[in-house]
Amino acid sequence: MNRSGADRAMTDPYGRTVRSLRMSVTNRCNLNCIYCHKEGDPGSGGEMSVGTIVNIVRAAADLGIDRLKISGGEPLLRNDLEEILAALPPLRDVSLTTNGVFLKERAQSLKKAGLDRVNISLDTLDPAKSRMITNSKKDVLGDVLAGIEEAVRAGLTPVKLNMVLLKGLNETEIEDMITFTRKFNGDVILQLIELMDFKNVAYLHVNADEVEDALLTRATDVKVRQLHHRKKYMINGAEVEFVRPVDNTEFCANCNRLRVTADGKLKPCLLVNDNLVDVSDAGPEELPALLKLAVSRRVPFYTKGRKHNGSRTDS
Ligand code: 5AD
Repeated sequence: MNRSGADRAMTDPYGRTVRSLRMSVTNRCNLNCIYCHKEGDPGSGGEMSVGTIVNIVRAAADLGIDRLKISGGEPLLRNDLEEILAALPPLRDVSLTTNGVFLKERAQSLKKAGLDRVNISLDTLDPAKSRMITNSKKDVLGDVLAGIEEAVRAGLTPVKLNMVLLKGLNETEIEDMITFTRKFNGDVILQLIELMDFKNVAYLHVNADEVEDALLTRATDVKVRQLHHRKKYMINGAEVEFVRPVDNTEFCANCNRLRVTADGKLKPCLLVNDNLVDVSDAGPEELPALLKLAVSRRVPFYTKGRKHNGSRTDS
């Protein structure tokens, strides 16, 4: 059953082999960030059972998917996350994206259950800005910072800090974030993310070219990741990864992930909602065909001449 899926890997009509699954396990969140894309999912409120989640991952693993990212909403709102992790088939990489607020209490048990590493949202080191960005009355920044430290201690490394660049809010903090990252001696990577405009927040968009050019002039080494062809810059011992999803044909051409919504629908692209494949009630015998159907519906969102709003600018 669990033989390597490498020989049965799924390749989409554009030649992109699907290697990773990004699975939302809940739409619920304890925060309400001003820019959040909610994984591109309008959300029905339904949540998959542990059994459904495990069946999907197992079928995906049999078809060559060897990486899993668990996301939300806020995935730590599910108390059965450790149970889910412990029931997964062996995979090359299992990671979790979290806002970090509840991570301190869970880091050790998540690691024990089989989680390899975490991505933690950290847009600012300033408590007032943090409250503003997260729309939170409560001061959560202290909990997030404690969560980062505990994640490093638990070995959920490399810990990636997701910093969405926001004009007038945190663009002047990049240097402080690099300094913060450096303190962890390689266990923490800063991930700068270009804002995607899902909530009429175009006014917060930062020009990624300028930020990236500034990094390039300071970098002692630059690497290119396979996924999305993301660039990684070494800045004086700190690793900084740049995620540029907007209007980026190279990003789409090198996308190797399939998404799953919290209510159990395979989602071929973050930015498209009319091509989902419902697997919420599918059994193990139906899942392979449904996974292949979703992969056959994958279309690169940004191609030459197609702009941010999806309209064609040439033909
Ligand atoms: N643009 C870019 N990144 C976003 N994220 C959430 N919403 C957006 C957006 N509109 C990122 C955050 C979070 C992760 C789940 O997705 O960095 O950590």
